[in-house]
Amino acid sequence: MKFYIETYGCQMNIYDSEIICSILLKAGFIKTSTLKKADIILLNTCAIRAKPEQKILNRLMKIRCLKSKLKKTNKQIKIGIVGCLATHYKKQTLEKFNFIDLIVGPDSYKNLPKMIKKLKKEPKKKEIDVRLANQEKYTKIIPSGLINRISALISIIRGCDNMCTFCIVPFSRGREKSRNPNSILKECKILYKKGYKEIILLGQNVDSYFFKPLKFFQLLELIALTVPLMRIRFLTSYPSNISKNLVEVVKKHSNISKHFHIPLQSGSTRILALMRRKYSGEEFLLIIKMIQNIIPDCSISSDIITGFCTETQEDHRETLRIMNRIKFNFSYMFKYSSRQGTYAERKLKDDVPNILKIRRLNEIISLQKAHSFYRLKENIGKIQNVLIEGISKKDDKYYYGRNYKNDIIVFPKTTSKIGSYNRIKIINSTFTTLIGVLTAEI
Ligand code: SAH
Ligand code: F3S
Repeated sequence: MKFYIETYGCQMNIYDSEIICSILLKAGFIKTSTLKKADIILLNTCAIRAKPEQKILNRLMKIRCLKSKLKKTNKQIKIGIVGCLATHYKKQTLEKFNFIDLIVGPDSYKNLPKMIKKLKKEPKKKEIDVRLANQEKYTKIIPSGLINRISALISIIRGCDNMCTFCIVPFSRGREKSRNPNSILKECKILYKKGYKEIILLGQNVDSYFFKPLKFFQLLELIALTVPLMRIRFLTSYPSNISKNLVEVVKKHSNISKHFHIPLQSGSTRILALMRRKYSGEEFLLIIKMIQNIIPDCSISSDIITGFCTETQEDHRETLRIMNRIKFNFSYMFKYSSRQGTYAERKLKDDVPNILKIRRLNEIISLQKAHSFYRLKENIGKIQNVLIEGISKKDDKYYYGRNYKNDIIVFPKTTSKIGSYNRIKIINSTFTTLIGVLTAEI
C-alpha cells in the first residue's frame, strides 16, 4: 500500500510527519510523493489559528474531488486527517465530512498501520483514535529523514500544561510529556553519525522539560557535550521558565546557538493576565535584561498576538513600547483568532473589530521590520563562523548559511562543502539577510 503525506503547521508537525513515515515504512507501506498514486492520503494538520485551518479545509475539499474522480475509475483512495485538527474536531468532523476515513491524534500514530489495514478490510468503516497520552509515545522511534541535509529536528517535550486562554495546544496535544533523556541522546548520536550538522530541540514549552532529576538546562548541557561538533538550537522558551542556569549553559558551550525564541504575546500587563501568561510586561523586560547581561549579543525572537479580547489602543501601545525597549531580532506576528473550546472563546469577548486587528498588526509588523534591520546591521564589520546550509535560491553563485545567533547570511560560493563552516566577514545587510565575504582572518 502506498501512502502520501502533507504537513501543515509548526516544526513539531514536520517532526511528527517523519515519525509517521518511520512507523508506516517499518510496517511495509511505501511512500509516494504523487497524490494520485497513493492508496491513503494523510494530512498532518494544524489547529492553532483560523487561517491555517481554513487552508487545510480548502485542501481537503480538493482531495475529496480527487477521491470521487478516482472512484469512477474504480480506484479507492482513503483520506486521513492526523495531528492537531484531529483532536480538535473528533467525531463532529466525521459527521460533517463523511469522505474522511481516518482520524488520528498526535499521540496515536503507532496505531496507524493497524488502522489503515482495517480500512482496507472494511472499506465502509471509519477509524478514529484521538486519545491523548500522559507519557511520550515515540521514545523508540527514530524519524525517517529530516528537514534538510544539515539540520535535524528532535522533539524533547510534547503537549503543554500552561493553558494560555487563547491557545488550543493543551487541548489538541494534551498534557506536557518530557521524553526520556537516554533516547534523546541516542537520537543525537545517530543524527551525528548520519552526517547532520545541527540539531533543533523542539517543544511547545521546551524549557519546562523535566525528566527526573534532569531539568532542561542539564539536558542541554549533556547534549552539547555528547555531540560537540554539532550546533544546537532549541525552541520555544516560555518566558518565566528561563533560568540563569539555562542562560549560563547557552553561554558556556560554543556549539549552542546564542538565540532564544521567547513569545511576548502582548506588552500590556492587563492583557497578559487575561491571556493567563505568568509574567507582566515589566517581568518580561527583566528576563530579557538577565539574558543580555550574561550574553550581551544574544539574539532574541518572539511571537506577538494583536487584537486579543478587550485590547485597547493603550494596551496596543504597551506592546509597541516593549518592542521598542527590546528590539527583537525577529518575530512571528498574528492577529488573534478565537479557537473553539479555549477559555477565551468560552468566557471572553472577541470584541476588537477585524479592521482594527489588521491595522494594529500592520503597525507591529512595520516596527518589527525596523528592529530586525537594526539588529542585522549590528553584525556589519564582524567576522563570524557560518554553517553553510545550501546554495542561495536567488543566485546559484552564492551560498547561504547561519551564524552562531541564527541570522541568515549569503556570500559568494567558496570551495568549502555544504555542511562545513566558513569564516565570513559581514559587509552589508538587507531587511532580512546579511551579506558577507570569505575572509582569511581568524
Ligand atoms: N509555545 C508554543 C506556542 C505555540 S503556538 C510554540 O511552540 O511556539 C505559536 C504561536 O501562535 C503562539 O506563541 C501565539 O503567538 C500564536 N497563537 C496561538 N494561539 C493563537 C490564537 N488563538 N490566535 C492568534 N495567535 C495564536
Ligand atoms: Fe499555547 Fe501557552 Fe502552551 S501559547 S503552547 S498554552 S505556553
